Amino acid sequence: MNEGKKTVFGYMPDGVPVEEVLLTDGAISCGIITYGGALRSLTVPDRNGQPVDVALGFDTLEAYLAQDKYIGAIIGRYANRIGGSRFALDGKEYPLRSNDGANHLHGGPEGFDKQVWRIRAQTRNSVTLSLNSPDGQEGYPGTLDVTATYTLADRALEIVYQAKSSRTTLCNLTSHAYFNLSGHGSGSIESHQFRLSASRYTPADENLIPTGAIESVKGTPMDLRQLQPLGAREYDHNWVIDGWNSALVPAALAWSPDTGIYMETLTTLPGIQFYTGNFLDGCPEGKGGAAYGRHGAFCLETQYFPDSPNHSRFPSAVLQVGEIYESKTAYYFDTEFKTG
Ligand code: BGC
Repeated sequence: MNEGKKTVFGYMPDGVPVEEVLLTDGAISCGIITYGGALRSLTVPDRNGQPVDVALGFDTLEAYLAQDKYIGAIIGRYANRIGGSRFALDGKEYPLRSNDGANHLHGGPEGFDKQVWRIRAQTRNSVTLSLNSPDGQEGYPGTLDVTATYTLADRALEIVYQAKSSRTTLCNLTSHAYFNLSGHGSGSIESHQFRLSASRYTPADENLIPTGAIESVKGTPMDLRQLQPLGAREYDHNWVIDGWNSALVPAALAWSPDTGIYMETLTTLPGIQFYTGNFLDGCPEGKGGAAYGRHGAFCLETQYFPDSPNHSRFPSAVLQVGEIYESKTAYYFDTEFKTG
């Protein structure tokens, strides 16, 4: 196998090669492609020690180029939505390109998910990708130099994001990995169980733009503080992670009763978007001919809150010139639960 080595995955329409790096650590392995810096596969053992690929992905670059679901990609410069596709910074208004009605989603029509990243460093279990986003790209001020480092270690996939800008700007980076802990092509996640370490969430309007309020989950369907089966429910909301203090804290737990695999998400960021793949219909054929449809996977996108530049009560995603942005998210895998 091409452990820690790169292979050519495909060629962009302009001839630029897209590479794939395969990382391994113990019984876990994953594939990362330079198109969108995307996680293409993530194989972990089930309760019987059998390998299960729990990440959605495609066999060809053409399928990546054809889809609009952000499958596996790194999202930037601003994860999730900015209402009205505009924000103000230091008294100046910045219009952004719209791609979700009148709103701006996941960094715009040519966000970081559509860019070919560079491989800066790689080892058997780690790869650092970089991207240079020019001043004005999609409407954002400042040239942003970004790195994303994927590392497999101690049963976890960890992603560290770093960025620096030539002018004060916004920076909110996440992974749009889609997971199905029963296997990427196994259909609905309704039997999965979920828990979110969040007593509050940010209510949103019908276009998923936050109202600006921060409300308690108590007595609402947003209360996922106890592990519970998803069933027929669907979610696409941002929760406020309890105990956010910029250190790595547990944010979410997902578990498949079929394989026994559970995934714990830990992050240094204040929010998490729990998205149950509500818009997956129309997805191109997945790896090995898998069908990916509505509720066929979930995302747990760690983030600053959606539309934060337009809500002064939300933690700020402003990156000052000269400052280094850094965040870390880890997905830890095991089977069943340790007591307690
Ligand atoms: C958003 C969804 C959006 C999806 C795109 C998620 O992060 O919360 O509303 O449709 O990304 O695939």
